[in-house]
Amino acid sequence: MNDAPRPLALVTGASGGIGAALARELALHGHDLVLAARGVEEMRALAVELGELGATATVIAADLSKPGAAAALAEDIASRGLMLDVLVNNAGLGAAGRFDRIDPDRIAEILQVNIVALTELTRLVLPGMVARGHGRVMMVASVAAFQPGPRMAAYFASKAYVLSLGEALAYELRATGVTVTTLCPGATATKFFEVAGANHSVMARRLRRMMGADRVARLGYRGMAAGRRIVVTGTMNRVLALTGRYAPRRLTLPVTDLLMSD
Ligand SMILES: NC(=O)c1ccc[n+]([C@@H]2O[C@H](COP(=O)([O-])OP(=O)(O)OC[C@H]3O[C@@H](n4cnc5c(N)ncnc54)[C@H](OP(=O)(O)O)[C@@H]3O)[C@@H](O)[C@H]2O)c1
Repeated sequence: MNDAPRPLALVTGASGGIGAALARELALHGHDLVLAARGVEEMRALAVELGELGATATVIAADLSKPGAAAALAEDIASRGLMLDVLVNNAGLGAAGRFDRIDPDRIAEILQVNIVALTELTRLVLPGMVARGHGRVMMVASVAAFQPGPRMAAYFASKAYVLSLGEALAYELRATGVTVTTLCPGATATKFFEVAGANHSVMARRLRRMMGADRVARLGYRGMAAGRRIVVTGTMNRVLALTGRYAPRRLTLPVTDLLMSD
């Protein structure tokens, strides 16, 4: 019998989509889980499923759009005597439309969840990992991180921040035993487009061609376990990422505008 303690992973945005798939993948690879999001019922159901895979899962209700939510979550985890080996910053959302017409509160929510909470949580969790000389952090960005995105401008910009932060932290921490992997999925079949109000976009109408969240999670986990700095899911998405990074803006801006249009 193996009595070695199971590593513990926190997944934010674990109530569905890519986060839930990452939690399953982590459980399959021997991790216990802390699941955090607003959707407590969904996470409780997931915890039962993870239990059948041999994992213990703790469910914590967290609205990461509220200032101070990351600190409250970190305190809640510490007060239970739990120590994280893996942090997966997955919670995120977008909003489609011309920037000047999007509800300002919605934009604030995007910035708070995608950028502020992710940054604060990472800052709070890293010192313990560095002190212990091991740990893995995953930042869920997007292929959107590689270029500006008309009709979803704040979302694309938020993911550029996540990628930039992730790459820099991976470099800073290279000699500490802590790795930072930025996962960049392309369009994935989750509730993302519905939540973003982008269900009618050219991109979303191609949904049947989108990758499943389980495949994204498998590729992400594999890359994180190997300590890779960036994981772009799938060949087409790698082409998109390279194009986004290196092609002239006069080409990428109108193409993205078209993909995000109705
Ligand atoms: N789907 C795609 O095409 C795609 C592509 C590239 C990158 N991504 C990224 O992948 C990540 C996961 O998205 P998804 O595709 O799985 O979409 P999803 O199905 O809409 O899941 C989003 C997750 O984020 C959580 N979340 C949203 N607002 C939150 C808040 N205020 N507090 C706490 N948690 C919150 C949601 O939980 P609750 O609503 O229960 O709080 C949910 O678990 C996001 O960072 C997204 O930007 C998605």
